[in-house]
Amino acid sequence: MTVNLVIGAQWGDEGKGKVVDYFSKDADYVVRFQGGNNAGHTIKVGDEIYKLHVTPSGVIQGKTGVIGNGVVLDPEILINEINNLKKRGIKPKILISDRTNIIMPYHKILDGADEKYLGDKKIGTTKRGIGPCYSDKVARKGIRAIDLTDKNTLSKKLDEIIPIKQRILDVYNIDKKLDKKEILDAYIRYGEKLKDFVTTTHIELNNAIKNNKNILLEGAQGVMLDVDYGTYPYTTSSHVIAGGSSIGTGIGPKNINDIIGIVKAYTTRVGEGPLPTELFDKTGEYLQQKGHEFGTTTSRPRRCGWLDLVVVKHSCMISGITKLAITKLDVLDNLETVKICTKYELRGKEIDYFPANIEDVKKCKPVYKEFKGWNKINGNSTKFADLPKEAQEYLKFIEKELKTPIAIISIGPRRKETIEV
Ligand code: GDP
Ligand code: IMO
Ligand code: MG
Repeated sequence: MTVNLVIGAQWGDEGKGKVVDYFSKDADYVVRFQGGNNAGHTIKVGDEIYKLHVTPSGVIQGKTGVIGNGVVLDPEILINEINNLKKRGIKPKILISDRTNIIMPYHKILDGADEKYLGDKKIGTTKRGIGPCYSDKVARKGIRAIDLTDKNTLSKKLDEIIPIKQRILDVYNIDKKLDKKEILDAYIRYGEKLKDFVTTTHIELNNAIKNNKNILLEGAQGVMLDVDYGTYPYTTSSHVIAGGSSIGTGIGPKNINDIIGIVKAYTTRVGEGPLPTELFDKTGEYLQQKGHEFGTTTSRPRRCGWLDLVVVKHSCMISGITKLAITKLDVLDNLETVKICTKYELRGKEIDYFPANIEDVKKCKPVYKEFKGWNKINGNSTKFADLPKEAQEYLKFIEKELKTPIAIISIGPRRKETIEV
């Protein structure tokens, strides 16, 4: 029995989809535990590309995909993803926690309204209703998956919630009248389609542990988008860090074996907020083009920069990462020099931790260590020794600085372009 956890150690889009798919071969269950369809996880199998937003990536390998209680679920998106997968010959096995909070139409409208209100201080959210849905969850005004299977309960809850949401929309000057009947009918229809999947997933998963099954927990976003430990307020609204996986599944922390931190060989970020190693020059453009750094969910260009080890050290500490998976190493091919940020300079002093004050983060200047670049990684490399000497040096430095072993090196988007160390 193993329970392994995969999380992003930067600002998301590290290649979690690829790595989760790779590890799924040994799993019985693959579980999403936080976030919602703000995520976009890409899996490339041969020439087939799958882009999943809320369906756990393990379904591509035929494993049971579990949507944990910590997720915020847009039922329409899940139903569409299931239908699209079926059209492509994959019949996903899905379970949804009865406690999963549901993204409602007013959450999506309010996400857009908040952003508009913030103007140039906006977060740059995906406008999928994530923040407003989590806000309702902690304010105890949430609709949960179980409610979609009981028209009476849902109707009563909507009677309480809709007038409040309408007032907020009016304050924001949003010309939208929420129609209770329309919402109730639509969500009861979703409930009818999903009711066979809605269950006590926390019991199913704990029984699976007792029965020696393997579970893979699939993080979304990255530690720097965590609502407590990220670049607050430029974060998402969930607990992205390893601790969030216990909250979001009902699996006790002691049951988790390996915590695999996914680290892109450079840094990217979508949306607003500081990014200390951001490159505004030709190299930044090169990484964006070569790495196809355009959002899987919103198609927005991702901002690019050098690898920031202050960030990854922070992530390793906060999440107790036991192993690293380095992705997209091939994107650094053909550069004369490559750089790694090891410290920041703030008000004339060097610091090696990530500040809480966002104004301080904006002032942090990266201190770099420079490395000789390499020509081209052979896409058929199967072991560490096959990599160019310079790339080996780059990786050894990362491992030494982070005091955490590298278990996986990804040198391309496909399953086979993966080196186990
Ligand atoms: P996620 O959100 O962490 O799952 O990452 P995304 O799927 O949003 O973005 C990662 C992108 O990089 C996807 O298009 C992947 O197919 C691609 N990718 C993953 N690993 C590698 C790699 O090692 N090399 C290259 N070139 N692309 C990769
Ligand atoms: P995956 O799982 C990258 C970013 C948004 C925005 C901030 C808040 O594919 O790595 P939200 O809609 O969550 O309220 O937006 O978080 N963001 C992501 N950036 N990858 C993601 O997911 C992200 N999910 C949210 O761009 O800056
Ligand atoms: Mg993504």
